[in-house]
Amino acid sequence: MLRPARPGDARNLAALSIQVWLHTYATEGLREALATFVLTEFTEARFQQRIAEPRHRVLVEERAGHLVGYADLDFEAPRKEARVELATLYVQEHFAGRGIGSQLLAACAEEARQRCGCPDLWLSVYHRNERAIAFYRNQGFTECGSFPFEFGGERHLNLILARLS
Ligand SMILES: CC(C)(COP(=O)(O)OP(=O)(O)OC[C@H]1O[C@@H](n2cnc3c(N)ncnc32)[C@H](O)[C@@H]1OP(=O)(O)O)[C@@H](O)C(=O)NCCC(=O)NCCS
Repeated sequence: MLRPARPGDARNLAALSIQVWLHTYATEGLREALATFVLTEFTEARFQQRIAEPRHRVLVEERAGHLVGYADLDFEAPRKEARVELATLYVQEHFAGRGIGSQLLAACAEEARQRCGCPDLWLSVYHRNERAIAFYRNQGFTECGSFPFEFGGERHLNLILARLS
């Protein structure tokens, strides 16, 4: 069942985010920079705040009473390509490849259309996250930029993708 997040989802959202993030990016094991990041970034309090913020819309996918994926839209991070940012799209690995990501994405485009009159979305993705990039390309997103960022004392690159109607 796909539904808007409720305050009571915040703890599960934090735990799922830590799980998905570490599975995706901690591919060589854990080190302090990664552990510190997930434990400070993905907290119940942060998600409670996010769910309550009008600038955000958090949608969750629930299966048999369990949280298995979510999407977070930011309506106040406009770029020239698209007004609404898909800030997060996470599906638990056990549920990958079952259409949940596509359904959450479609629901996000519909949210953008309802709130802003246009379903266009933009997002940023780590340049080595090949599976996500392939997923977004298949969903009609194209690359429109990139930006470097620092993490744990290293330079990395994020790609900017957008899907325009
Ligand atoms: C990227 C991610 C969101 C995709 O979610 P997902 O639920 O696996 O995506 P879907 O199942 O909708 O689509 C994945 C593939 O399965 C296929 N698929 C399998 N069963 C399907 C079904 N029943 N219905 C629709 N598609 C299905 C899709 O065609 C799709 O193939 P494609 O990528 O070649 O188009 C997910 O893998 C994820 O959370 N990754 C880790 C976190 C991450 O990297 N997030 C993005 C960071 S910006």
